[in-house]
Amino acid sequence: MTLITLRGLGFAYGEPLFSNVDFTLSKGERIGLVAANGRGKSTLLRCIAGTLEPTSGDVLRARGLTLGYVEQHLSPALADRTFRQAVCDALSPAEAEAESWRADVLLEVLEVPDTFRTRTLKELSGGWQRAALLARAAVTDPDVLLLDEPTNHLDIARIASLENWLSALPRDTGILVSSHDRAFLDAVTNRTLFLRPDRSEAFSLPYSAARAALDDIDQAMERRFQDDMKTARKLRHQAAKLKNIGINSGSDLLLTKTKQLKQRADELEDASRPAHQERSAGRIRLGNRGSHATVLLTLDNLSVATPDGVPLMKTGLRRIHRGDRIALLGPNGCGKSQLLTRIHTALIAPGTPQPGIKATPSLALGYLDQALSHLPDDASPLSIICDRFDIGDQRARTMLAGAGIAIDRQTKPSGLLSGGQKARLAMLVLHLSTPNFYLLDEPTNHLDIEGQLALESELTTHEATSLFVSHDRAFIRSVATHYWRIEDGRLIESDTADAFFEAALND
Ligand SMILES: Nc1ncnc2c1ncn2[C@@H]1O[C@H](COP(=O)(O)OP(=O)(O)OP(=O)(O)O)[C@@H](O)[C@H]1O
Ligand SMILES: [Mg+2]
Repeated sequence: MTLITLRGLGFAYGEPLFSNVDFTLSKGERIGLVAANGRGKSTLLRCIAGTLEPTSGDVLRARGLTLGYVEQHLSPALADRTFRQAVCDALSPAEAEAESWRADVLLEVLEVPDTFRTRTLKELSGGWQRAALLARAAVTDPDVLLLDEPTNHLDIARIASLENWLSALPRDTGILVSSHDRAFLDAVTNRTLFLRPDRSEAFSLPYSAARAALDDIDQAMERRFQDDMKTARKLRHQAAKLKNIGINSGSDLLLTKTKQLKQRADELEDASRPAHQERSAGRIRLGNRGSHATVLLTLDNLSVATPDGVPLMKTGLRRIHRGDRIALLGPNGCGKSQLLTRIHTALIAPGTPQPGIKATPSLALGYLDQALSHLPDDASPLSIICDRFDIGDQRARTMLAGAGIAIDRQTKPSGLLSGGQKARLAMLVLHLSTPNFYLLDEPTNHLDIEGQLALESELTTHEATSLFVSHDRAFIRSVATHYWRIEDGRLIESDTADAFFEAALND
């Protein structure tokens, strides 16, 4: 049975993001929604959820259909609600009155620690905020779940439990999920929709198999296009020859034939289309200012606690040497972001010494916080760059365009950027800060696959010293030279992450 039908759906902000999308979501289908950063995945989900009007076409929902929608970002309205309140808010007032136990059951299933249930969402880690958004969508037992990048911010164990939870949902539940996490898409989907500006393509296959099928179609289309163009050139060549002969011999028949050949060439050229060319969502470039110091940062038994003073962990004596790229590992909420925040605070105010943190005077910091809060939503990308860096308006515009932020978006509030575009803006800020030490909190969140690979290669090629938090196994493996693991309130060093990954997945 069909739950949602998209009929000729299109959306444009000036240029079309997608157009003429005809698509159905039926009971039990689990669909992956795939496209590069800024191509309209969140926009399509908003149109389906009914929070945005499409530019053309319709969204038809089965009568009485209930939707659970997990947005890509935490809305400010929820920031001051506690975990439990946020989940209860998703119920109708009558349900919240009589059936708030459903929220409590769900909090148990999600293993939300008691102390977190009464904390406001803004006080929780990114991973727990995401868990709250998922719980809000799930508590209503919806017929369809719309999930916008649900694995962002989740740790490895939580991604695995999200996969298990999705597979354990009633078989009839329909799911439409946008994601850049290939392994996750393969694990949870059975259909894939590739969103494209002119012709979106759908396959009854999970991501990797669908990608291969799409590549085959694109290659066949490109071959046909090249063949058609070759044939059209031949026809025009023949037509030119015949025209000369016709004129010289005064033959009307040959001239008519010439016209026909030209017409066939025109028709071929009009009908055939080049294959879709995937445009890059923008370049990611990072550098490394270099340093003569051998040890850039020393942590001398630093204690890390929550903002309200609950101790989380102690670092012991740790040194970060030039060229080290250290992955900081540990489950959601164990204090990774807090440790990064402490180091950040110490490095931006070198005049006020922080006990337990010592940095070489030549350290130049590049910092990326998990919520990208240093990029205010109401400031435009152009003002963010021009206010911080003395590079002139013209160069700022060129660099923003190179990073994938089109000229017409550069002066609009950066809150309008897609998640991945905002992450790319943050990468440009990092690049322009010319650091020799990178402190990165989940830098691959929101980045599409091409962006993740570019970031990997920039960090490794420039041999940039870095301390980073990530839950992306492929990224961690290819970037890290050392691993710091937070376990039972201690920081443990190791040369491999395998044991950690295994333990996280088997928990
Ligand atoms: N109000 C607006 N005015 C103009 N452009 C907008 C507005 N809102 C969004 N956009 C643009 O629409 C495009 C699509 O955004 P959307 O959030 O749907 O992308 P996405 O595919 O979800 O990307 P990501 O993978 O980065 O999350 C982006 O280029 C974004 O900058
Ligand atoms: Mg999005």
